[in-house]
Amino acid sequence: MSVSSNSFPVIIFMFIFLVTLASHSFAKSTANTTRRPRQLSVDYYAKSCPLVDQLVGSVTSQQFREAPVSGPATIRLFFHDCFVEGCDASVLITTRMGSKLTEKDAEDNKDLAVEAFDSIKKAKSLVESKCPGVVSCADILAIAARDFVHLVGGPYYQVKKGRWDGKFSIASRVHSNLPRVNSTVDELLQLFKSKGLTLEDLVVLSGAHTIGFAHCHHFLNRLYNNKGTKQPDPNIDTRLLKALKMSCPQVGGNSDIVAPFDVTTPFSFDSAYYGNLEAKLGLLASDQALFLDPRTRPLVQNLAKDKQKFFQLFAAAMDKMGSIGVKRGRRHGEKRKDCSMHMS
Ligand code: HEM
Repeated sequence: MSVSSNSFPVIIFMFIFLVTLASHSFAKSTANTTRRPRQLSVDYYAKSCPLVDQLVGSVTSQQFREAPVSGPATIRLFFHDCFVEGCDASVLITTRMGSKLTEKDAEDNKDLAVEAFDSIKKAKSLVESKCPGVVSCADILAIAARDFVHLVGGPYYQVKKGRWDGKFSIASRVHSNLPRVNSTVDELLQLFKSKGLTLEDLVVLSGAHTIGFAHCHHFLNRLYNNKGTKQPDPNIDTRLLKALKMSCPQVGGNSDIVAPFDVTTPFSFDSAYYGNLEAKLGLLASDQALFLDPRTRPLVQNLAKDKQKFFQLFAAAMDKMGSIGVKRGRRHGEKRKDCSMHMS
């Protein structure tokens, strides 16, 4: 389920509940993706579409005003694009009648919010009206993700461009290329390494969970039956556990209910996510694991107290993630007119 406007009241309920809690507790396929990235550049469209950043920016700022959930949703969409077949907008392709399922329809992508796809669609249509057939959907997604990071209060950084859109989008490629909520730190490190990303990138990019929401089913086991023990995860704050259990019953709960990743400042991009991990307030097992593992803990502690450093490293890590498996040229890529459909 996506975090649609229908589920907004549910979000609000959860938000009020958890912020109350927080105020009490805080009085204080990988082979092709490991290749050296082809060169991208900030001024790639200097001649062909010099205003591309502004054009996308006008859409993202309006979209953010009208539907703020587009922010976290688009940042996540970019991540899911880059990790599967590289940053090539393959996640935007819609399954055609009678054809094999595309990435978008893979189980792991089912809860990508519709607002994220809408943002890219609107931005593409404006860009096409000014510079037809020039700018790839993959670049528009990278620019939009950056815009939303900034709109929610995060760092602004230059986006390098020059990605072409991918010619393939296959649902079965998704699962093995995305992290799972119960992945161990070893597994996360291995996956990130297969994309050319480091331990630091893992910890820093996970900081995107300073905003956004997760549906109950992603953390239900932690609340009721952690690792088959029929007990809650001992590494979760007891008040958070109680609050989450009330919103997310073990059986029969409303599948639209979501909880904020960052219980203290859910709507602002800051380093509170890391402080939360120190206080056992991580939402997913994979978040909390970053504090529990001695290899990643020092960086979590560091970032918890240094927002500027988090911002600087996050901008650099987004740039690096945005270079994964980039395609260039007609042989490997295409420039789609409609981001949801291949050219031929
Ligand atoms: C490291 C392992 C990661 C895991 C296991 C993970 C898993 C998840 C899950 C399960 C959700 C909730 C989806 C839902 O219920 O709707 C989510 C949301 C989100 N993820 Fe991650 N994620 C990871 C890393 C990342 C990275 C690297 C980024 C971006 C750089 C990212 C950005 C987001 C954002 C912004 C949301 C909120 C989406 C929304 O509210 O619509 N995540 N993630």
